[in-house]
Amino acid sequence: MRIIRTIPELKVALKALRDSHRSIGFVPTMGFLHEGHASLIRQSTARCDATVVSVFVNPTQFGPSEDLSRYPRDLERDQNLCLRLGVAILFMPEASEIYPTGFSTSISVGPIADALCGAFRPGHFRGVATVVAKLFNLVQPDLAFFGQKDLQQCAIIRRVVKDLNLPVDILVAPTVREADGLAMSSRNSYLVPADRERALGVSRGLAKAEAAFRAGERDAAALEAMARAEMSAADEIQYCSLVDLSTLDSLAGTVTRPAALAAAVVIGGTRLIDNVILAPS
Ligand code: PAJ
Repeated sequence: MRIIRTIPELKVALKALRDSHRSIGFVPTMGFLHEGHASLIRQSTARCDATVVSVFVNPTQFGPSEDLSRYPRDLERDQNLCLRLGVAILFMPEASEIYPTGFSTSISVGPIADALCGAFRPGHFRGVATVVAKLFNLVQPDLAFFGQKDLQQCAIIRRVVKDLNLPVDILVAPTVREADGLAMSSRNSYLVPADRERALGVSRGLAKAEAAFRAGERDAAALEAMARAEMSAADEIQYCSLVDLSTLDSLAGTVTRPAALAAAVVIGGTRLIDNVILAPS
């Protein structure tokens, strides 16, 4: 595995791969890798000849009062995991490599970035869309892998790829959970045991709504209320909404098209998100 920190080195390494006609899979991350990230990397190594992973805590997607400076980092553990999983290139640039002096262009995503998390994290998806587009241009992967846990991020990346004709296929992999249901997240490391216990209400609520949906419940308000009821131990429920799976428009009344129930809560100062897909058969 090559560990690469600069763009010129990355270009040379990628040229060698492309010259040998190898298909390239790409998994962008912010590091502090867990089994959720590993599942994406495994999908990539299974489908592509060579896998590139980026570890970059992207400053432009953090708001001024968010956790950029204390975002968890463990580069050595990340390197070991990538090595074990058969990653070809681990790209770990400094912020100045991605955002050199004078950098000023960004991607404005439109209404899909305004709902759900976008309403609570102004500018977040502009930062995500911009860095992901930059990374796609640098790596030029055939396939790029994202996790369903970040439902809105997936919808936005698909939108950007389509709107800007980026030559990459997007694959979305299911959310990986802890044994007790909590969606894996680098931010779970912030949770003290009592907060972690409270956090379980999120996955429990979503699972209850999913079970009710499977049993035939189709009323959006009833499904939302069922999930919310389990999340009452959170300090704040930012949203718990039933939305169209691709547009993320909020759905009311009877659910008749592919939807997702998505939630964001704050527990002990930590913001957690999760969702389940509800697809009528
Ligand atoms: P990060 O939070 O590190 O996540 C990297 C990728 O791992 C994302 O596609 C995310 O959806 C996926 N992921 C995280 N937890 C997961 C879980 N429990 N199960 C399955 N997949 C999971 O998302 C980002 O970084 C950044 O916004 C990034 C796209 C790298 C741009 O900076």
